[in-house]
Amino acid sequence: MRILSGIQPSGKLHLGNYLGAIRQHLELQEKGDAFYFIADLHALTTVKDPRALRENVRDVALDYLALGLDPARASFYRQSDIHEVPELCWLLTTVTPMGLLERCTSYKDKLAKGISADYGLFAYPVLMAADILIVDADLVPVGKDQKQHVEVARDIAGSFNHLYGEVLKLPQERILPEAGLVPGIDGQKMSKSYGNDIGIFLEGKALRERVMAIVTDSAAVEAPKDPDTNNVFNLLRFFAPPEETREWRERFLAGGLKYAEVKQRLVELLDERFGPARERRRELAKRPDEVEDVLNESAKKVRSIASATLARARRACGID
Ligand code: TRP
Repeated sequence: MRILSGIQPSGKLHLGNYLGAIRQHLELQEKGDAFYFIADLHALTTVKDPRALRENVRDVALDYLALGLDPARASFYRQSDIHEVPELCWLLTTVTPMGLLERCTSYKDKLAKGISADYGLFAYPVLMAADILIVDADLVPVGKDQKQHVEVARDIAGSFNHLYGEVLKLPQERILPEAGLVPGIDGQKMSKSYGNDIGIFLEGKALRERVMAIVTDSAAVEAPKDPDTNNVFNLLRFFAPPEETREWRERFLAGGLKYAEVKQRLVELLDERFGPARERRRELAKRPDEVEDVLNESAKKVRSIASATLARARRACGID
């Protein structure tokens, strides 16, 4: 089974990314042939600063490797290294109805927010289809927001096959299980764009300050408190063992609890969970060549699959 997903290099990864996607990506590498790539061509639709883009790509590579992406099991590559992708993308554009792309909600949302759209943003789902179809992916684990794009990829593959024969493999999608709402420090959904995120690789004083900044109410220490509306509790429950979470719940309800104490414990839990990964990341960052090697080796392997798919597609539509 081939599993494929793309990761946008859009800055430092945070706890919401970890709980929503990264964790599942890492688990899935045990379950099949995983293809994970850094979607740098997609990122060009939003990041127009070359230095920032290079840095983001490097960061995401380090983050994933430090968190446990195993290059011996999974392919891990830069999208832009697979030159076959943009070429397949072009072939696909010629079987993609305008209306199909006009209906994509993530495109419509951006238009509605007043973001001026370029052609790349409009064509974004076609490039995604090329990413998926080029390796004959079976399963595409994505969050809810990307589900429509996987459906579009299936539609595009269907149109291509309808015209030219059974050339492309239609992928299934698999929606990643919802982690439940991961609150940011202000209680809204944790998101880079809200500026309320807690970075996975924050540590020491910076992490403590970030956690201390989590918004709580001003209930007196003695007052009984509702854990379910408390932002610290709602983060802690993702990282504490169930037994401990239950104890905290009781202590909230009983009264006499200082929020600073829960925050302190959250810092410890994050240190425990991510401490080893932070250490690995520091070590890896000293050896950029090793990271390059991983990406290059994977790209080589993926290109041999990609060139076979592209050759099939070219032949089918009369270009050979
Ligand atoms: N658009 C995806 C996101 O923003 C990233 C992505 C690019 C992707 N190409 C893909 C995901 C192909 C799955 C399959 O998260």
